[in-house]
Amino acid sequence: DIHQKQTYISTEQLQEIAQNLKLPLSKVYSAITFYTLFSPKPKGNYIIRVCTSTPCHMKGSQDLLDYLKQKLKINDGETTTDNLFTLETTSCLGLCAFAPAMMINNKIYGNLTKEKIDQIINDYQKGKEKESDYLKVNILDGGEKIILKNYGIIDPESIEEYKMKGGYDALSKVITKMTPEKVIEEVKNSKLLGRGGAAFPTGLKWEFTFCAQEKPKYIICNADEGEPGTFKDRLLLEGDPFRIIEAMTVAGYAVGAEYGYIYIRGEYEISIRRIETAINKARENNLLGKNILGSNFSFDIKVREGAGAYICGDETALMESIEGKRGIPRLKPPYPPTSGLCGKPTVINNVETLANIPDIILNGADWYNKIGLAESTGTKIFTILGDIKNLGAAEIPLGTNLKEVIYEIGGGIVGGKKLKMVQLGGPSGSTLTANMIDIALDYKILAQAGLTLGSGVVLVFNEDRCIVDAVRSMIRFFQHESCGKCTPCREGTKYLYEILDKISLGKGKVDDLETLKLLGENMKDASFCPLGQSAPNSLLNTMKLFPEEYTKLIKN
Ligand code: FES
Repeated sequence: DIHQKQTYISTEQLQEIAQNLKLPLSKVYSAITFYTLFSPKPKGNYIIRVCTSTPCHMKGSQDLLDYLKQKLKINDGETTTDNLFTLETTSCLGLCAFAPAMMINNKIYGNLTKEKIDQIINDYQKGKEKESDYLKVNILDGGEKIILKNYGIIDPESIEEYKMKGGYDALSKVITKMTPEKVIEEVKNSKLLGRGGAAFPTGLKWEFTFCAQEKPKYIICNADEGEPGTFKDRLLLEGDPFRIIEAMTVAGYAVGAEYGYIYIRGEYEISIRRIETAINKARENNLLGKNILGSNFSFDIKVREGAGAYICGDETALMESIEGKRGIPRLKPPYPPTSGLCGKPTVINNVETLANIPDIILNGADWYNKIGLAESTGTKIFTILGDIKNLGAAEIPLGTNLKEVIYEIGGGIVGGKKLKMVQLGGPSGSTLTANMIDIALDYKILAQAGLTLGSGVVLVFNEDRCIVDAVRSMIRFFQHESCGKCTPCREGTKYLYEILDKISLGKGKVDDLETLKLLGENMKDASFCPLGQSAPNSLLNTMKLFPEEYTKLIKN
């Protein structure tokens, strides 16, 4: 609440918070200093945060950052003498299709140029706060639309329009015609796998929580997508928010939960607003709250905003964050389905996973099994970025060939250039050379080839791109986002970045390559959570697939 009124929290306010919450000041301070969007130190009235993650980096975000430094006469992390602006960098804002992008307080701006930056800064200097850009993502034709069918078609704030498209028929069906066991069986039979990256069977997760004895039980929707290049959940939250609320309510009915939380990243201002509106309207229509649709079933949802920490996309770190603490991952087991939020049984599903539920309930598992491949059923949203003609997002049946995604749906490489590399699933995902792209986007087939689908980013690099520069920007992201809990990740990401920076500046030595490899492999083995374990992926993969890119920079 304080942060919504000013850009930092003063010492007096920290003390007041501690007193009110009956907590030691150190605990409050420790939470505040964990999250990027919070600060205990004074900042300017407007905090400009320029995205430096790889898709924005490829579109010239460094030049724009340098331009802003020059224009405002400050460095990264500093405040102008009139106290108006503080300049900072940030990780992905989910505006990658409009790269380069930035955020000023909670307003977002994309497709930045120096001229556009001049205009925006001038407005703020004159005391005119510019509204966020209205950025409608280009939805490419992927051949099948289930979860994106309402995007851009219905008014996302109108429950009537959602209902006209079949909205809430699934909830009504489960409440009037299905037992919780039957709902779980249908979801299990659909073979729906988690779309957040881990691909765990959704029905099985629900069943574990259904069988757990403890109460209360919780449903959490993980809307903290932060993998650079990923904005699939933003599309669903902004374009079809009732779908997510309905799906969570169905999940609540199935496992016997009465409470739900949606944890949305703080950078997604529009998503937060739309979801809050949808929750209120669902309550007004007796679709949330006590005795839903006149039944014995009660369920309600609260929104929790993140505050700029990628690690909170990890399910246990997210639950720590909802509990008001630093978002640091927990040791597993126990797993959330039996011991999650506040130690109670919790189903935690990604936004895109939940978005599939209403159609599975309405049309049945057999219908769903006919889409995609035998082990990877249904569709998946891919975000298609980088040096590709058609930037945007596409909902595609799982099993579609990656080559088709790049050359047909994506329209091929800009300027007729050759393809050099594809980073699949974001910086923590997989790296492919041009020779490897003839492969089905199917969880099992990719796994057999040692690859993962991750969050569904297809980031394309043309023949002119410097691979070391790209990897450096990916490692910079992990260095910024490491939560600091374990040494291999906290120190490792920093060392990796320093060495890569040195190599990029032409000061690398041949020995550095061995150090990078050793560090990367140790981090994979010894880091506590998937962040540290996957941080060196792009480095180790590119050192193997493109060794000449590294030696060229060192030797020449
Ligand atoms: Fe910059 Fe996503 S908004 S990479």
